[in-house]
Amino acid sequence: MDVSEFREFGKAVVDHIADYWESLPNRHALPVVKPGDIAKSLPSKAPVKGEHWEEILKDIDSIIQPGLTHWQSPNFHGYFPSGHSFPSIVGELLTAGFGCMAFNWMGSPAGTELEITMMNWLGQALGLPQYFLNCDEGPGGGVIHGSASEAVLVALLAARDKTLNSFINKQNGVRRSNLRENLVAYTSDQANSCIEKAAKIASVTIKQLKTHNCQLRGSTLRDEIFKDKANGFVPCIVIATMGTTGTCACDCLDEIGQICKEENIWFHIDAAYAGSAMICPEYRPFMGGVELSDSINVSPHKWMLVNYDCTATWFRDHRYVIDSIGVKRVYLDDQSSEYGIDYHNWQTPLGRRIRSIKLWFVLRSYGIEGIQRYIRNHVALAKYFEQLVNTDSRFEVCSSCMGLVSFRLKRRNSLTELLLKTIIDDGKYYYTPYKIGNKFVIRFAVCTRITKSEDIKNAWNAIVDYTNTMQWDLNGTHNGFIKSI
Ligand SMILES: Cc1ncc(COP(=O)(O)O)c(C=O)c1O
Repeated sequence: MDVSEFREFGKAVVDHIADYWESLPNRHALPVVKPGDIAKSLPSKAPVKGEHWEEILKDIDSIIQPGLTHWQSPNFHGYFPSGHSFPSIVGELLTAGFGCMAFNWMGSPAGTELEITMMNWLGQALGLPQYFLNCDEGPGGGVIHGSASEAVLVALLAARDKTLNSFINKQNGVRRSNLRENLVAYTSDQANSCIEKAAKIASVTIKQLKTHNCQLRGSTLRDEIFKDKANGFVPCIVIATMGTTGTCACDCLDEIGQICKEENIWFHIDAAYAGSAMICPEYRPFMGGVELSDSINVSPHKWMLVNYDCTATWFRDHRYVIDSIGVKRVYLDDQSSEYGIDYHNWQTPLGRRIRSIKLWFVLRSYGIEGIQRYIRNHVALAKYFEQLVNTDSRFEVCSSCMGLVSFRLKRRNSLTELLLKTIIDDGKYYYTPYKIGNKFVIRFAVCTRITKSEDIKNAWNAIVDYTNTMQWDLNGTHNGFIKSI
C-alpha cells in the first residue's frame, strides 16, 4: 500500500467510523450471534496474496460489525464507561501514524515531555497533592500506564521491595526469601479483581478485608494489622478503592491513610473510575485522605472521554518503582537519564506508544469545563434513573453513587436473576450483575457520551415491560406474571 492508497483507505475508514457513530442510537447493545459464528465466517488460513483494502473493509461490515457488542450504544449500561470521544480517536490515529516507541527520552523526546506535562495538567485538574507532580525538586511523578491492573501491579511491586529492603537494612542477616513469605498486602472484599491478580503475580499474600456498606473502615484494617504483626507477618501495602466496581463505594481513605502513616505502610488508591469525577470540585470530599497516599491511579479511559488504554498513575516517590523494576542496558542508555525520566522503568513492558497525544487532544478540545459538564451530566442521568426505580414499589434501589445505580426486585434473588436473563436474552439493553451481601442486584451504569435522558426513560420503561411480562417459576410449581410483589 503506498501513500496515495493510504489516503483513500484512511479517509474511507474515518467515514466508516462516523457512519457507525450515527447508527449507534438505533443499535441494540448486544449482537445476535452464537459462540463460534464469527470464527466460522473467517478463512482458516491467512491469504497468500495481498487483498485490496475495499475487500477488507467490506468484511468489517459483513463479519466484524455484526459480532460487536456496542459499548458506545446508549443502550449499554454494563460495567463502567469505556471512554471514547472523537478527539481521542484522532489522537490514537496520530500515535499509530507516527509509530514511535517512547520508552526512553531519545525514543521520542516529544513523547516523554508531553507525557510529563499531561500528567501535571491532569494531576492539577483533579486537585491531587502537589507532591505527585513531575517537577525538578521532588521525587514525585506521574506516568501513563496501559491499565489500572498495570498501575496496581507496579505500586505493589514497589511497595513490596521497599518493605523488604528496609527490613533487611534494619535486621542484618535476615534472608530475603524468608521475609518475602511473610509479606502481606491488604485490600477490601469489594476491590477489583485486578488487585488479587497483581498480588498473585508479585507472590504477596493479599487479604481482602470485610467491608461495612461496601466500604473498608480504618478499624477493620487496624485490627487485622495488629493480629498479623503479632503473628510475624509484615504488612507492605494497603490498596484502597475510591469507586468500587460493584457499587462505586469509596473506602474511608482518611482513616486508612492515617493508619498507613503510623505503621509506615505504602498506601495506594485505586480510583480507576471515580477518580475522574475529582475534576469537579464538589466531588473532592470523596478523596479526603488522598494527601496521605503514596500512589494513586485514575483511568481517563473509563470516565474521561479518552479511548482505552490510558491509566494515569502518580507516585509520591518514583525512585521506589525504579529500585524495584528498573533495569539498565547499554542499548537503552541515552540522554534521557540527564533529563530525568526513562518511562520504560516505570512500567512492566519495555515498549510504549505515545498515549499522551489522545489525552492532550481531549483536555484541549473539551477543556476542564467540558469534562466537568460530561461528568455532571452522567451523575444527573444516574440520579434520574434512581428516581424512576423508586416510583415502582416492586423494586428497591440498593446503591447509588456517581454514575452507577444498583437495583433489584424485592424478595427473592431468583426474580432479579430472571429479570436480568430476560433483558440480556432480548439483547437491546446490557446490564451487569453484582452481589451486595446476599442480594443479587443489577448494576445500571451511565456509560456513553451520547446517552440522553430519554434513553434512561426508555431503559426504565423496558425494565418495567420485561418485569410485567416475565413468567417466573421459582420452585417448579408456580407460573405467573409479576404484576405485584
Ligand atoms: C475500580 C476498578 N479498578 C480497576 C479496574 C481494572 O481496570 P483495567 O481494565 O484498566 O485494568 C476496574 C475495571 O473496571 C475498576 O472498576
